[in-house]
Amino acid sequence: MKQQSTNSSPQWNMTRISSTLGIEYPIIQGPLGGLSTQRLTATVSNFGGLGSFGAHGLNPSAIRDVIAEIRMLTSKPFAINLWVSMEDEGARTSGNEAFARSLASLAGHIQALGGTLPTFTRYVPIKFEDQVRVLLDAKVPVFSFIYGVPPKEILDECRAQGIVTIGTATTPDEAVVLEQAGVDVVAASGFESGGHRGSFLRPSEESLTGTFSLVPQVVDSVSVPVVAAGGIADARGVVAAFALGAEGVQIGTAFLACEESGASPLHRNALLRGNARRTGLTRGFTGRLARGIHNQLLEELNRPGIEILPYPLQRILMKNLTVVAEKAVKPEFLQLWAGQSANLSRQSDAKTLLQTLISGVFAVTESVHNNFKRNR
Ligand SMILES: Cc1cc2nc3c(=O)[nH]c(=O)nc-3n(C[C@H](O)[C@H](O)[C@H](O)COP(=O)(O)O)c2cc1C
Repeated sequence: MKQQSTNSSPQWNMTRISSTLGIEYPIIQGPLGGLSTQRLTATVSNFGGLGSFGAHGLNPSAIRDVIAEIRMLTSKPFAINLWVSMEDEGARTSGNEAFARSLASLAGHIQALGGTLPTFTRYVPIKFEDQVRVLLDAKVPVFSFIYGVPPKEILDECRAQGIVTIGTATTPDEAVVLEQAGVDVVAASGFESGGHRGSFLRPSEESLTGTFSLVPQVVDSVSVPVVAAGGIADARGVVAAFALGAEGVQIGTAFLACEESGASPLHRNALLRGNARRTGLTRGFTGRLARGIHNQLLEELNRPGIEILPYPLQRILMKNLTVVAEKAVKPEFLQLWAGQSANLSRQSDAKTLLQTLISGVFAVTESVHNNFKRNR
């Protein structure tokens, strides 16, 4: 799709983000850890945005396969996303008793839906260092990450290999730490975002700044280009993000609602029907603070006295309920990951979403411009 250009002023899409990442439109499809697909990633990249694949839950050989599959679908730049911190304190020592206490609040639902109760097994950690080695060996075009800053040797190797790095900040202080470490791009992730709150300097609960407040503060704090994430689902959000100083946007939930994503039909339906008016934060889905559509499950997991296992044990605990709830068509017991703007999700495929965003940018900019002129 070609850009409309009415005069000789620079086109909106030509920012440091588009040039650093080698893409046409500074629109990043946010990594959707657990619900990413090679097809969604490649579709966005082929269109001229940056497709991302959230690979934090995969072992190194699965990540190698995913990269090869994405490369078969696109020759354009794409990102692979990892979590720098992969487990919470207590995950290795938590035992059967804590497991049984946490299972108690779910057991009734699993059994009522005809499922079998999970049994405790000590979890086998996947190492971030092993995952990132695959990315380095494969020379992926872009490596994005949350929950911290990778060790200096890894960032040095990325720079040496020409791998662009995108670090996620949920506060201006985190953005400064990322820049000081030499990260190329900062994604400023507001509290509206779907999925996990990837804070790393302070607890997530103390890092809940919204996108509108966070982005200009991050832009003022660092000199590297900033991508705005959280609550952006249409062209109004894109234009607003640019007005706040961002040079690109990262959109998760609206892409999750697209048929190319790994979300189940029940989940997509909940995002697309225009009924996702209320979202909430919970540690109950995985052990780490995350946002999803407010439903019975989220409400019950947030009740006082419910014991939540450390990440990733809670995530593992939840699996059996997800499987039976999907089978029994019970969205009230699903983890319906979503950001606060889920209710704005309208497009059911990635290409249409991108086309709508891009054509909408001109209409929104013109309308803002006309309003300013009229009110002068
Ligand atoms: C289901 C889901 C999974 C996500 N997984 C990751 C992840 O693994 N890594 C990451 O950096 N961001 C992850 N995100 C955040 C998105 O990439 C993106 O920054 C965020 O969704 C933007 O806010 P929005 O949902 O309001 O568009 C996830 C978001 C969702 C909805």
